[in-house]
Amino acid sequence: MGDPRLLEVAQPVRDFNAPELHALIADMRATMAALNGAGLAAPQIGVPLQVAIFGGFKSPRYPEAEEIPDTVLINPQLEFIGEALEEDWEGCLSLPGMRGKVPRYKRLRYRGFDLAGRAIDRSVSDFHARVVQHECDHLNGILYPMRIADMRQFGFAEVLFPNQASMEE
Ligand code: NI
Repeated sequence: MGDPRLLEVAQPVRDFNAPELHALIADMRATMAALNGAGLAAPQIGVPLQVAIFGGFKSPRYPEAEEIPDTVLINPQLEFIGEALEEDWEGCLSLPGMRGKVPRYKRLRYRGFDLAGRAIDRSVSDFHARVVQHECDHLNGILYPMRIADMRQFGFAEVLFPNQASMEE
């Protein structure tokens, strides 16, 4: 946080066959795995493209929830379903060690493309919807603290949640 590249609007991917795109995703996967992330967007490693990865893990916050599929999401479009918002804690690899309570739409439909250029079209809710909103915000230059409604609900994970391991988005 503080790097101006995190505040830019990312550009759409035009060439799904570019070797650079495949190298970018390999780099993102390695970064997310090494840092125990729930998701990662290309601007977080300094690349201004509309590419996000997320999922492939059991949610630590909703252990009973359905697993989010391991996803590469390119050129996403979001459509919120209903007006219901839900607040919950988020973290982010771009501001490690912090947590904030962020209101997000409870349900949404997201569309985009995978790495092979195949269409993705999913309607999801709860933690899955939250992760998608968090990652797509990165593609629009928005970090989760900008969404916090009550700044008293923002702090260090080790203070807010002592003895609890959690993931960063
Ligand atoms: Ni993040």
